[in-house]
Amino acid sequence: MRIFDIIAKKRDGGELTKEEIEFFIQGYTAGAIEDYQASALVMAIYINGMSKRETADLTLAMAHSGDMADLSGINGVKVDKHSTGGVGDKTTMVVAPLVASFGVPVAKMSGRGLGHTGGTIDKLESIRGFQTAMPIEKFIENVNTIHIAVVGQTGDLAPADKKLYALRDVTATISSIPLIASSIMSKKIAGGADAIVLDVKFGDGAFMKTLEDAKTLAKAMVDIGEMVGRKTVAVISNMNEPLGLAIGNALEVEEAVATLKGNGPRDFETVCVELAAQMLCLAGKGSTDTLKEELHTRLQNGVAFEKFKEFVAAQGGDVSVIENLDLLPSAESVEPIYAKKSGYINKIEAEKLGIASMLLGGGRAKKTDLIDYGVGIILNKKVADFVNVGDKIADLYVNDRSKLADAVSLIDEAFSYQEERLEEETLIAGIIRGDEN
Ligand code: URA
Repeated sequence: MRIFDIIAKKRDGGELTKEEIEFFIQGYTAGAIEDYQASALVMAIYINGMSKRETADLTLAMAHSGDMADLSGINGVKVDKHSTGGVGDKTTMVVAPLVASFGVPVAKMSGRGLGHTGGTIDKLESIRGFQTAMPIEKFIENVNTIHIAVVGQTGDLAPADKKLYALRDVTATISSIPLIASSIMSKKIAGGADAIVLDVKFGDGAFMKTLEDAKTLAKAMVDIGEMVGRKTVAVISNMNEPLGLAIGNALEVEEAVATLKGNGPRDFETVCVELAAQMLCLAGKGSTDTLKEELHTRLQNGVAFEKFKEFVAAQGGDVSVIENLDLLPSAESVEPIYAKKSGYINKIEAEKLGIASMLLGGGRAKKTDLIDYGVGIILNKKVADFVNVGDKIADLYVNDRSKLADAVSLIDEAFSYQEERLEEETLIAGIIRGDEN
């Protein structure tokens, strides 16, 4: 087999065999296929697409290109969740304890933040003592006893995807549905998931700008799940503004705790309950409608919060911090930001807010940067609210003032206004299941 022939076949619109796809992925991971050849093939895929079968084969080849997490020691159906969001996305901190409170195992590997996106691991580490690394035996034991453990990614999961993603990033080939879908799904499969719930965002702050594109991506991932024997459901949610009000590590822990006690922002609670219901449904715990009712109850009656405390304690975190949020890392000053225009807010660009939070020290411009856990942004207004010039739209939590001016102008730019009252936007715009295709 020659990579030259595989490139030519895809260039001419042919369908690659499983063997050809495996040859490419194994050769590229091992360094036997050069970047310029991989670039040509990826561009041919970008232009000519891939069939469902090819996409599933690519996913499995990438999943098997490195370590495969062995979670067979965990009892029960392991349902993982993945969000294509990134700014202000603290859903794992609420969804994981909610699901675990039903005795369904949550064995999650999460990431750190980079650029404008935050990461669950950084957020959890703002709780004093919280350990996000542990031996696999301890990880499995925690899941089997309290049904929840969340750790940073270990091992060499899907190295082919890492290499290909970096190549796509510099060859204008990121935005291809089969390539995105196989990239995301390969990591979930290598991470040991039996079933997967995807939170696919659409809107200005999302990877997929339109609802149509988000649905197409969701369908492609659900199709992969079907073809590789992992039950997969996608929730399509609106990202024309950040979820909830908080952006920044400790600030997001605070919002997650408020939500776990039944006092969170409505949009955030809605998305968390939807995701948890879909996960529990895949784990065989009943219908989503009945589950949603019960999930709201568990946020109100303290069950979810108790599970979160148990989880924090099991990973070495100081539970008194969760009981008294004043003990979380904090900022020296709080700078209010005021509206420069009057009107109905029609958009709050999440990416700009993510960059502003990063500039304040809440995120990393490069992987080695240290994080300031106490800084970030709390929104005072949401899309569809009316504001007059001078109304407060956000508070910035600041320690290092050197980047304050840049952060403030980004926040001003993130808000857009219009004169007419806005229809309330649908938050959950659809659920895509395997049997609907
Ligand atoms: N996220 C991923 O993990 N992969 C992509 O290709 C795009 C977004």
